[in-house]
Amino acid sequence: MSAEYRLVKLDRVSSTMEVAWQLVDAGAASWTVVRAEEQTSGRGRLGRRWISPRGGLWFSIIIRGFDVPDEPQLASIAACVAVAKALEELYGVKPLLKWPNDVMVGGKKIAGVLVEARARGRVLEALVIGVGVNANVDSRALKDQGLGATSLLEILGRPVDLDELLAEIVVGLKRLLRSSRRAIVEEYRARLGTLGKPVRVVLATGEVEGVAVDLLDDGSLVVESEGRRLVVRTGDVYMLREKEG
Ligand code: BTN
Repeated sequence: MSAEYRLVKLDRVSSTMEVAWQLVDAGAASWTVVRAEEQTSGRGRLGRRWISPRGGLWFSIIIRGFDVPDEPQLASIAACVAVAKALEELYGVKPLLKWPNDVMVGGKKIAGVLVEARARGRVLEALVIGVGVNANVDSRALKDQGLGATSLLEILGRPVDLDELLAEIVVGLKRLLRSSRRAIVEEYRARLGTLGKPVRVVLATGEVEGVAVDLLDDGSLVVESEGRRLVVRTGDVYMLREKEG
């Protein structure tokens, strides 16, 4: 157990997001981390299901009070960077990030981040940052995650220590969130595989095809399409030469 965070370890839950919000209501401190061995109703972005069998690293982090960044988007990109850096440092794996929150290795998804926020008026009161890493799992069990999934077990050929990986990600995220916005965005941009690539952006209002040309300091993606620059804050981006999930 680390002095940097408080760990609540559970066996089988519906979703660690759900448990984390219950703990927020019960007054849990910032940097309380809920980890489960298995989730029966894991949540992905945009209402998708997240397949979470035993062997994976499934956890949610509570951030509240003075620790809450200005925008949930910053927490989301910082969490992606923390996951990528942990994989680099512990296992020498070099992931690329796919905007906004997918961690990819060899064109397949190895981890995803989901941030949920609670606000009172315009003030963000608490965030729950959910992280799912396909660690010691057979990637064939993950086909419903979309995009084509991979796992650390598949890449390394051996299981990893989940507590060590969790600690590396959580402590790394804490450091990042205490650094500057510029530092977080730079670390994210340096690993972003989406820039310069042809993409299809799926928005609530329709679809646009273009080229991802820039990342703004608030984490928005700039897509150039038919001579116009479109700033994409939320939505899904598919790289056009990539297999679509
Ligand atoms: C995505 O890529 O769509 C985000 C996936 C986030 C999955 C994690 S696993 C731990 C936490 N609990 C959940 O139910 N979801 C997140």
